[in-house]
Amino acid sequence: MRLHGATERLKMHPELESIFDMRGQVALITGGAIHFGFDIACVLGAAGCHLAITSRDEERARRSADELRSRYEVDVLPFAMDVADATQVADVVRRVHDWKQRIDILVNNAGGGSIKGQCHLFERETQAIDRLIAVNLNGTLYCCREVGRIMREQGRGKIINIASIAGILGRDRRMYARSGMASQPVDYAAAKAGVIGMTRDLAALLGPHGVCVNSISPGGFNRDLPETFVRDYCDRTPLGRMGRDGIDLKGAVLFLASSASDYVTGHDLVVDGGFTAWQ
Ligand SMILES: NC(=O)c1ccc[n+]([C@@H]2O[C@H](COP(=O)([O-])OP(=O)(O)OC[C@H]3O[C@@H](n4cnc5c(N)ncnc54)[C@H](O)[C@@H]3O)[C@@H](O)[C@H]2O)c1
Repeated sequence: MRLHGATERLKMHPELESIFDMRGQVALITGGAIHFGFDIACVLGAAGCHLAITSRDEERARRSADELRSRYEVDVLPFAMDVADATQVADVVRRVHDWKQRIDILVNNAGGGSIKGQCHLFERETQAIDRLIAVNLNGTLYCCREVGRIMREQGRGKIINIASIAGILGRDRRMYARSGMASQPVDYAAAKAGVIGMTRDLAALLGPHGVCVNSISPGGFNRDLPETFVRDYCDRTPLGRMGRDGIDLKGAVLFLASSASDYVTGHDLVVDGGFTAWQ
């Protein structure tokens, strides 16, 4: 393999460029200011997309937008938005569309399985369940509704919903208990399974209009987790490690957002080092 010097840039073959060059396209990424959302914004910015990123925290969105602008020399708009608020979602989507008169890519990333408060179903507050479902499931559905209408009009578009392996598999709670950790609540699994189901049906609904809808189910990514938990998790993963921020999600997003996946819709792409493949 030929190694390139630090200052030497890899020149892409025109065949690859025609697949992955997304210059001028507009991507909307919810929860795009940190972690997965920021990685997603990075890879789409690197491919040439103009970016609209949302966060509940306006200042955080603005800081990340500045960083993305200077790294990738694309236009970036930050928005404060709670995905669980349908009115805010409609307003932000309208403003993103007004910006460049197009939305080519929507990544529904905002969400997460909060492990604050009581996580065991029998002790869990109704309000906590409702909020988790509202953010992870309803929020994704609201964004799909607003952006889906625009994409139907355009006759093209790519929607990527970030689900989770929690929507596919039950979790072994002994692993969490051994490390003194709370495990994600059952409502998280319900919401993410809902996202995977929604993805398939929306793919069927929007396919005739040229819009592809897919989901990505990441496995566990290592963010300062207890050592014993990481060891247990890695032992159950064929590739022997947890996911890495900044690296492991980008390829899947680039594939599903670009024309590399133009004949792929209704698919759940699992990015978990084989965790769900191994009994
Ligand atoms: N971290 C993992 O190991 C993992 C694994 C599988 C799936 N996921 C999923 O990936 C996505 C991103 O996860 P992450 O680990 O980067 O999470 P994170 O908690 O670090 O970030 C989530 C993002 O969503 C935003 N967000 C949360 N609630 C919101 C709301 N109501 N309105 C608007 N934005 C909101 C946050 O501000 C943040 O930007 C989530 O959907 C999560 O469920 C994460």
